[in-house]
Amino acid sequence: MHSAIPLTEKVFWVGVNDHETDLFEALWPLPYGISYNAYLIVDDRTVLVDAVKGHFLDEHVNRIREALPAGRSIDYLVVNHVEPDHTGALRILRELFPSIRVVGNKKTLELLAGFYGAGGDTHVVQDGDVLDLGTHRLTFHLTPMVHWPETMMTFEASTGILFSGDAFGGYGTVDRGLFDDEMDLAFFESETLRYYANIIGRYSQMVQKAIAKVGTLGIKILAPTHGAVWRTQPRVAVDWYDRWSRQETKSAAVVAYGSMYGNTQKMAERVARALVDAGIRTLVHNLSHSHASYVLRDIWTSRALVLASPTYNTGLFPTMDDLVRLLENKLIKDRLLGVVGSYGWTGGAAKALTAFAERSKWRIVEPVVEVRCAAGDQDLERCAQLGRNLAAAVRA
Ligand SMILES: Cc1cc2nc3c(=O)[nH]c(=O)nc-3n(C[C@H](O)[C@H](O)[C@H](O)COP(=O)(O)O)c2cc1C
Ligand SMILES: [Fe+2]
Ligand SMILES: [Fe+2]
Repeated sequence: MHSAIPLTEKVFWVGVNDHETDLFEALWPLPYGISYNAYLIVDDRTVLVDAVKGHFLDEHVNRIREALPAGRSIDYLVVNHVEPDHTGALRILRELFPSIRVVGNKKTLELLAGFYGAGGDTHVVQDGDVLDLGTHRLTFHLTPMVHWPETMMTFEASTGILFSGDAFGGYGTVDRGLFDDEMDLAFFESETLRYYANIIGRYSQMVQKAIAKVGTLGIKILAPTHGAVWRTQPRVAVDWYDRWSRQETKSAAVVAYGSMYGNTQKMAERVARALVDAGIRTLVHNLSHSHASYVLRDIWTSRALVLASPTYNTGLFPTMDDLVRLLENKLIKDRLLGVVGSYGWTGGAAKALTAFAERSKWRIVEPVVEVRCAAGDQDLERCAQLGRNLAAAVRA
């Protein structure tokens, strides 16, 4: 079953569903897979908008062949984004369809030459350039750093389709439904937020610029390179990305801890209990069990965060160290932070967490709880106090 799926009479989804890759970018878990969306426009000139990861070429080509009218080849391949999840198939596509001219901006073509070697026909575009296909008319909008420097979006005027690249995309294959009206949107929002927090979040400012630029185009169908195609409520996906890129948070908290022997865990759980008792929706992650991908997703929309770590070889527990680095790398800002540290002899964890808060300019909510070995009743009461203070700060 290789069916190309029509978006309109002349525009087809010719992407693939990837259930093979365990970790996207060799980092982020894909329990529900991911799709690489590509689109074929059939007109006087035929255009493939984006391609797929190399491993999935066979299925991709079958769908292209199905959608192409007899005797026609591909005239243009628009490369909105060079990352190999969308261009891995390029070399072979060029061999199969020798008439292909690759359309991209100056940076696109530089990067393509770097990955796949120079050669082949190209067509260089600048911001605002137009390509007439007959009935369809493509306009190219440069949107750098969403998610790479060469990234652009392509708008088709007659159908109102915005081919948006990674922007507005999410995890999850589209064999469960391609269009927004065919999907369980609650499930899909969670997987789209996880994709956003993992992949795009660092570039939130550039997402804001991109939304300002393409938000006024009159988008009727939003067609990203991953996840749902939005034909009923494209505004919903734009609103999600708008809120997430403004780092809008909810009155909610995440408690993330590392713990080898349960001492730090006990303190973290005490803080969480106090938050819950105070009516704050709280998610708890043991970092030895929850992958950072999910922790980042939950932190992205929560106003408060509690980080609890034992001291491990003078510093943070390794999984906490990883999380803190990721939080800094993703440029997450303006959260309320509760700090809980434990140690056996000279300590270090609490100090490392407060240093992180200072670097990130996050507000630390008192008390910082630092405990030697196992927490006693007084220590646990301070944990509860931290939870209550955080709840009050979240509400303020
Ligand atoms: C492998 C290991 C390394 C540790 N390194 C340090 C250290 O460098 N400095 C320190 O003060 N405590 C150190 N500790 C002590 C722990 O921080 C302390 O036992 C703490 O209560 C452990 O919390 P947990 O039960 O939540 O794992 C270490 C403990 C272990 C097991
Ligand atoms: Fe990308
Ligand atoms: Fe991508």
